[in-house]
Amino acid sequence: MPAVVVLGAQWGDEGKGKATDLLGSRVDYVVKFNGGNNAGHTVVIGEEKYALHLLPSGILTPGVVPVIGNGVVIDLGVLFAEIDGLESRGVDTSQLLVSANAHVIPSYNRTLDKVIERFLGSRRIGTTGRGIGPTYSDKMNRVGIRVQDLFDEKILRQKVEGALTQKNHLLVKAYNRRAITVDEVVDELLVHAERLRPMVADTALVLGDALARDDVVLLEGGQATLLDVDHGTYPFVTSSSATAGGACTGAGIPPTSLTRVIAIAKAYITRVGEGPFPTELFDEDGERLRTLGHEFGTTTGRPRRCGWYDIPIARYAARINGVTDFVLTKLDVLSAWDRIPVCVGYDVDGERTDELPMTQTGFHHAVPVYEYLPGWREDITGARSVADLPANARAYVEFLEERSGAPISAIGVGPSREATIVVRDLLD
Ligand code: IMP
Repeated sequence: MPAVVVLGAQWGDEGKGKATDLLGSRVDYVVKFNGGNNAGHTVVIGEEKYALHLLPSGILTPGVVPVIGNGVVIDLGVLFAEIDGLESRGVDTSQLLVSANAHVIPSYNRTLDKVIERFLGSRRIGTTGRGIGPTYSDKMNRVGIRVQDLFDEKILRQKVEGALTQKNHLLVKAYNRRAITVDEVVDELLVHAERLRPMVADTALVLGDALARDDVVLLEGGQATLLDVDHGTYPFVTSSSATAGGACTGAGIPPTSLTRVIAIAKAYITRVGEGPFPTELFDEDGERLRTLGHEFGTTTGRPRRCGWYDIPIARYAARINGVTDFVLTKLDVLSAWDRIPVCVGYDVDGERTDELPMTQTGFHHAVPVYEYLPGWREDITGARSVADLPANARAYVEFLEERSGAPISAIGVGPSREATIVVRDLLD
């Protein structure tokens, strides 16, 4: 039963879209299991560049069934805009399946996401403002609206009414906004119902049957390990489970079906939004990483915070997720340096540790301890095997591999689909 997870090892934007796309033609199902349109995958195919936010990147591979799992929160307007955008460029989206249990993002949650951030002031999370957090809160509070509710207007109306008794209190009394009517919300959701209906399925059943047939199911994680609501740098995290355990609950497949856990790690690190980031650079090097790596958000356009590769983070991701393979991306960006620092541990209030600090305070106080590796100063974008890499680039990859807790099975050396060194087959 080959179920393969692809997830981010750091704070997101590691290039997961490229990795899933690399496996694309050999998988039968690609499942998005968490998050919503807060994600942003960029996939480059030939001359075409696709920026996806909500749809799984497998949608670009003919023959693959893309699935939006129960663990996802869906902004229906965004879903159909993204489908229309792809269809207008000749991409067939007719195979898409959407879980009846996935939650939808009503507009009041987008409003709340933004006003809550504004009211948090200096304690803000730096969310994408897409309504993700409030919608997952509703799910846990048991006042969420699910895809299936759109097909029973009476139930939908009851649920919206229930949610609005809480939401309107918040909006009006806490945040000084106008109250929202049940009709407004019901209308806004029902507009999409008929178009959505043929895509809706019991996706856990579909995937269970697929695994029983030995079809290959690829589970595509949104966000990343350190943005996971349980295992990330809480509270500066997203509101879903972005780790391998979340793949099982968010898709409805058993943990025993996972055969491979592939973590994507950038050859350096970036982060968007607020929160601790030990190796963050505030100098020319940070600016250079941002420019050379095109480190601006796919979803919000925000400049990403940039820093050096952090080994304790990679090892943590390997342990929490049971990583079997790393894919190291954007190695080519580092070609511009004579000497490359790699964080091998931290100094936390005078004590040296090689693990992530247990507490938030410890993480905020962590000062990176660096080892310095020689750069290679050569264009590596044409490399297609490890042997094509300059010796210092090979040494950099080996250094990371020895300490990160799992083998590096592929290396990204440029933005295009072809610019990848495959060291080991990711599906065998
Ligand atoms: P939210 O997911 O919009 O609630 O935002 C919570 C945090 O997760 C913020 O710091 C966001 O910038 C971050 N975040 C959410 N989605 C992504 C992503 O796809 N890549 C990187 N950061 C993300």
